[in-house]
Amino acid sequence: NKKISIAIDGPAAAGKSTVAKIIAEKLGYIYIDTGAMYRALTYKALNNQIDLEDEQKLMNVLENTVIELFPGENSQLIFLDNQNVTEEIRTSAVTNSVSVVAKHKSVREEMVRRQQMFATSGGVVMDGRDIGTHVIPNAEVKVFLLASVDERAIRRHTENLKKGYDSDLELLKQEIATRDKLDSEREVAPLKKAADATEVDTTSLSIEEVVNQIMELTAEKI
Ligand code: C5P
Repeated sequence: NKKISIAIDGPAAAGKSTVAKIIAEKLGYIYIDTGAMYRALTYKALNNQIDLEDEQKLMNVLENTVIELFPGENSQLIFLDNQNVTEEIRTSAVTNSVSVVAKHKSVREEMVRRQQMFATSGGVVMDGRDIGTHVIPNAEVKVFLLASVDERAIRRHTENLKKGYDSDLELLKQEIATRDKLDSEREVAPLKKAADATEVDTTSLSIEEVVNQIMELTAEKI
C-alpha cells in the first residue's frame, strides 16, 4: 500500500483530533496534532510573561523551544523542552490565548516548517487549521470537518464533565465562537476549507460515521 498524507482541518472542537487519532491507528500512520504545537508555545510564553502581541519576542522563545509529539495510550503526549505538558496545554488560559500567538506570520512559518518535517515520509494524519491549504497542500486526502457551535460546545461540555472538570456550557459557546472568529479572520493562513477538500458536517453524525467517510476517501487513494 502507498503511504499517503491525510489533512484534517476545521474549526475548534469539531472532533478533528478524535477522528484523526482513530484513522491513524487504523492505518498504522503517525498522527500529528498541530494545534498542540501552538498551544505549547502559548503555554511557555504565558509562563514567561511574554507579551503575546510581540512577534519578535515570541519568535525568540520559539527558536529556543523544543516541541515533541509522542503517541500515548489514549491521547498524543506533548513534550515542551523535555517536560510533559499534555494536560497543561488544555487549560482555558492557554485555549483563550492561543489564537493570538497563532496569528503571527513568523511564528506560523516556523511551525509549518517543523510540521512539514514530520510529514516528509508520508503515512501521516495531521489536524489543524491550515494543513490542506499550507502545510501539506499536496495531501492525497483533505477533509474539512464542520459542526454547529452549539453541537461543538455540548460535546466539549460533556467531555469536561466526564473528566470531572468544571464546565460552563454558555461560556464554552462564547469561547468557541471567539476562537473561530480569530482563526478565520487572521491575515496569515486563516482557517479556510481548501478548494479540493471534502466538507463533512459532523453535527448529526457519530464518530464512527465520520471515521467511515474519511476511510472511504482514503481507500480510493491507497
Ligand atoms: O486544534 P486546537 O484547538 O488545539 O488549536 C488551538 C489553536 O491553535 C487554534 O485555535 C488556532 O489558533 C491555532 N492553530 C492554527 N493552525 C493550526 C492548528 C492550530 O492556527 N494548524
